[in-house]
Amino acid sequence: SVHSSTGGQGYDLVVVANRLPVDFSVDDDGAVDWQRSPGGLVSALEPVMQENEGAWVGWSGAPDLAHEPFEADGMMLVPVTLSASEIRKYYEGFSNDTLWPLYHDVIAPPAYHRQWWDAYRRVNQRFAEAAAAQAAPGAVVWVHDYQLQLVPKMLRELRPDLRIGFFDHIPFPPVELFQQLPWRRNILEGLLGADLIGFQRGGDASNFVRAVRRLTDHPTRGSVVSMEDADGNPGRRVRAAAFPISIDTQRFDDLARSPEVQARAKEIRADLGDPDVVMLGVDRLDYTKGIRHRIKAYGEILQDGRIDAAHTTLVQVASPSRENVGAYQELREHVEILVGRLNGEFGEIGHSAIHYLHHSYPPEEMAALYLAADVMLVTSLRDGMNLVAKEYIAARSDLDGVLVLSEFTGAADELAPGPLLVNPHDIDGMKDTIVAAAHLDPKEKRRRMRRLRRKVMGDDVAKWSKSFLGVLTAMPSRDTHV
Ligand code: G6P
Repeated sequence: SVHSSTGGQGYDLVVVANRLPVDFSVDDDGAVDWQRSPGGLVSALEPVMQENEGAWVGWSGAPDLAHEPFEADGMMLVPVTLSASEIRKYYEGFSNDTLWPLYHDVIAPPAYHRQWWDAYRRVNQRFAEAAAAQAAPGAVVWVHDYQLQLVPKMLRELRPDLRIGFFDHIPFPPVELFQQLPWRRNILEGLLGADLIGFQRGGDASNFVRAVRRLTDHPTRGSVVSMEDADGNPGRRVRAAAFPISIDTQRFDDLARSPEVQARAKEIRADLGDPDVVMLGVDRLDYTKGIRHRIKAYGEILQDGRIDAAHTTLVQVASPSRENVGAYQELREHVEILVGRLNGEFGEIGHSAIHYLHHSYPPEEMAALYLAADVMLVTSLRDGMNLVAKEYIAARSDLDGVLVLSEFTGAADELAPGPLLVNPHDIDGMKDTIVAAAHLDPKEKRRRMRRLRRKVMGDDVAKWSKSFLGVLTAMPSRDTHV
């Protein structure tokens, strides 16, 4: 099981993720400062990290920044340094211009460059070495997400004594798409270095096992892959399973019940000109989110006069993301042209059809926006889970508000039949559903939201990390020849 730190010999729980849970800033004199960043993963892991005096290995987000490990909020943070060229090739290139589009159903075309792959391998090795240096004998190491899929195998080679878990936060694609990747076997073998591989949906886990069956010689049985030892005899077993992630539900519920946030929600509606219907979209500005499909459908609804343009508003928060990657720059151009066109057409003095906000906001403001929104639009073309949908539900203890949710999200697997489900590719169908959401009968609204809250409120992210670590530490330990 997971114990407390063993003093000088390392940490009994080590988390490895591309990003550290802090934002660094370097001032004009080169002095480095950091602030906590409020990401979802850190709220998931902070409790177990504090209980176990864990260490977190990750990148600072800045180029060439070398920093000694330091303590923050009861965790040891261990920065990994990336050069500007590694950021270009490993992060912007292989992670976000190869794997990200490939794993999201090739919505954008993945680029395959051997130099990017070389950098990905090199950087993964650096993360593995940093983790190996922090882990106590027999420690649990939990590796996260698509940027680090080679780390489990590299780490096992350095430290066969460790128990290694991996969680894939994004979809795992069908083998028919995955097999495009020139380095598909390396990725599968990299992941199979783990004892337990977690996915958002059962479908992602079975896509992975199918890829293993099709592209490697390892025998599989159900969700278990058997690895041979060095002599070709049966060795350890790797399990692939679904562990759908959640949010800090209590935090959003509390925030939305607070008088300050409730007052702010009223203020937001007033500032929007007290429309009859406020619709809301909240996304990283990413082509997987279906923002263009959503705006197109909304614009046509206004055009058709099916909802009254003078008394309806769409607030679209699109937080800046991966701005050095071409596909993201193109998306921004397209979205901003669409928004401008719609506002030109349907806006009036003192009223905009769309309020487009290219910013990110703290959780208090998000909770107020959720409370102010009659209809929440989550229309991803593909999405590992989509936590915005869960945040909206957690914020609506008033049982008001309607969630329109894409079938192509992990959340849809879990939450149906509470949301109004849409296929974002079917613009006419999505238009009908958005109109229906805007006019939904109050009793039906409450019935659906009550159902959604029953699903989400009991299932918070602390439970998620406990359940993953519980399964990982309960797996039979092997003869590790140390
Ligand atoms: C997704 C990924 C995360 C990533 C986040 C933000 O949620 O699953 O691994 O950290 O997007 O993207 P960024 O590239 O800014 O880290």
